Amino acid sequence: MTDFEYLSITKHEEIAIVTIDRQKKLNALNTLLLKELEQGFARLSEDDELQGVILTGQGDRAFVAGADIEELADLDMQTGRRASEQGQRVFSLIEKFPRPVLAAINGYALGGGCELALACHLRIASTNAKFGFPEVSLGIIPGFGGTVRLSRVVGLGRAVEMVLTGDMISADRAESFGLVSSVVDLNDLMKESKKLLGRITRHSPLAIQKARQSLYFACNARMIEALNRETDLFGQLSGGEDVKEGVSAFLEKRKPIFKGE
Ligand code: COA
Repeated sequence: MTDFEYLSITKHEEIAIVTIDRQKKLNALNTLLLKELEQGFARLSEDDELQGVILTGQGDRAFVAGADIEELADLDMQTGRRASEQGQRVFSLIEKFPRPVLAAINGYALGGGCELALACHLRIASTNAKFGFPEVSLGIIPGFGGTVRLSRVVGLGRAVEMVLTGDMISADRAESFGLVSSVVDLNDLMKESKKLLGRITRHSPLAIQKARQSLYFACNARMIEALNRETDLFGQLSGGEDVKEGVSAFLEKRKPIFKGE
């Protein structure tokens, strides 16, 4: 999958590594790059062997330093709406991706970059990473889902502080906010990302998929609906081959071999 201008996708066993590569502009998201992300994830969703995705930025300075500010200058009310809709659509596709997506945050994750990381299911940062929502300093607001997803991850108080001040925070502070799971040396970022993903992909892929569906559904639903949904998903898994294998492996004191059935 090398026919993209700003994106490279490589496979390492059953994990895909998606690298945003627009280093001269600190990997800022322009319209083409967003389109390539959409196409890249759409293609990956057709790969039945895939167990997970790591999304990162090229180089040692930035994950993504935001939406492309040069493109923002020309927006009017209509094109502004469309730009927001495009970003939200692409990021929702990532959030709904059938396999776990981990953001390996290797530097600045600002504005749209932080919103992109929030659309991923898991986040690990390198020590040099910095997070922030500078949009208000440009006279706009986060428009790729940031005002919606941030408070779900860090709580409303911290989200209000981050978005209204526009201040950047360090990787350590992001970890204390729960914005990232851990902070590691930049040289270890990929190794640690694979390790975390491996702790997930060793389990039944079907169970992982349905657990994630239940967790995300619950964020948007009333409690009774969320509980019913959990019951539906639990029922769908029960009696399946993976459950039989998981239970047998436990009783036989061996590691399970899941087939995703
Ligand atoms: N959109 C477009 N270009 C961007 C960009 C963005 N979001 N972020 C960085 N760049 C470009 C810079 O314009 C510069 O391009 P140039 O070399 O052609 O002038 C290049 O990337 C390197 O950035 P530079 O500002 O020189 O690096 P720095 O180390 O001095 O500062 C940042 C790094 C991240 C603090 C600074 O680039 C910045 O504030 N970027 C904007 C962040 C932002 O507001 N994002 C939200 C947008 S909604």
